[in-house]
Amino acid sequence: HRHLTGIEGLQPHEILFLLDEAEQWIDANRSRAPGDQRLKGVTQINAFFENSTRTLLSFEIAGKRLGADVVNMHAGQSSVKKGETLIDTAVTLNAMRADVIVIRHSSSGAVQLIADKVDCPVLNAGDGWHEHPTQALLDALTIRRRLGEIAHKRVVICGDILHSRVARSNILALTTLAAEVRVVAPATLMPHAIESMGVTPFTDFDAALEGADVVMMLRLQNERMNGGFIPSTREYHLRYGLTRERLKRAEPHAIVMHPGPMNRGIEINSDVADDSERSTITEQVEMGVAVRMACLDVLTRRSRGVEGWA
Ligand code: CP
Repeated sequence: HRHLTGIEGLQPHEILFLLDEAEQWIDANRSRAPGDQRLKGVTQINAFFENSTRTLLSFEIAGKRLGADVVNMHAGQSSVKKGETLIDTAVTLNAMRADVIVIRHSSSGAVQLIADKVDCPVLNAGDGWHEHPTQALLDALTIRRRLGEIAHKRVVICGDILHSRVARSNILALTTLAAEVRVVAPATLMPHAIESMGVTPFTDFDAALEGADVVMMLRLQNERMNGGFIPSTREYHLRYGLTRERLKRAEPHAIVMHPGPMNRGIEINSDVADDSERSTITEQVEMGVAVRMACLDVLTRRSRGVEGWA
């Protein structure tokens, strides 16, 4: 089976194909048109071993809008709490004959481990510091719809780059689609040798913002830190928080993105986050449903006897 464990390894035409497939669901979702039931009879298991609001709900809504039977496994209420291993959990889900499994896990690589053990497509809904591919796809779709194209746009990604699977997947997707990517973080939150990913690192946010078309802000991943990465959130806000004043350095048409959940007043101020002209934060959530509908559809095509993806 073809899985979606990451953006890594996808060709530009494959990413664009998924974005094109997602486009058709945006208007359908807005108009609440009678549903396309192409996933009727498909059993979709969402196995979430880590908290989520957007990703879990949008995968559930996406599956249901296409007629799938969707069941959610919350690790907190599962036998994982009794000490069952990840592999045993995967084998158990597989024995229930799921047709597609969506997984979020706090360990990088956990999704691949499960993908290797089951007989159906697996979609990564975020694994540790590794990847969050559907987030990068929904972000790319948002950029393309707002700015017309992705190639040659200057995208500034600012925040906790080190611990961010959103940053990794976005860097992979955006550089594959020929955007110019700048990453901004304090030295302690910048991965070593990040230049090898084809991006330009900055520690000075103001300098990085010059000429930006897209400003993507990231949350401090406190759940992946044991303290010691930043002196204080107040100082972090002063140097790396996005304020209206700071945004003036970007292009006048620049859009402001955030994957959510936001920490208002730390990485982003409310006046910027809630500015409906510049901020795409709620649009990103909307694109998330469309992108996940496309991914569920495309990845289950082969098992449904429909031609797979290009
Ligand atoms: N952006 C994102 O993954 O949000 P959730 O953690 O709420 O799913």
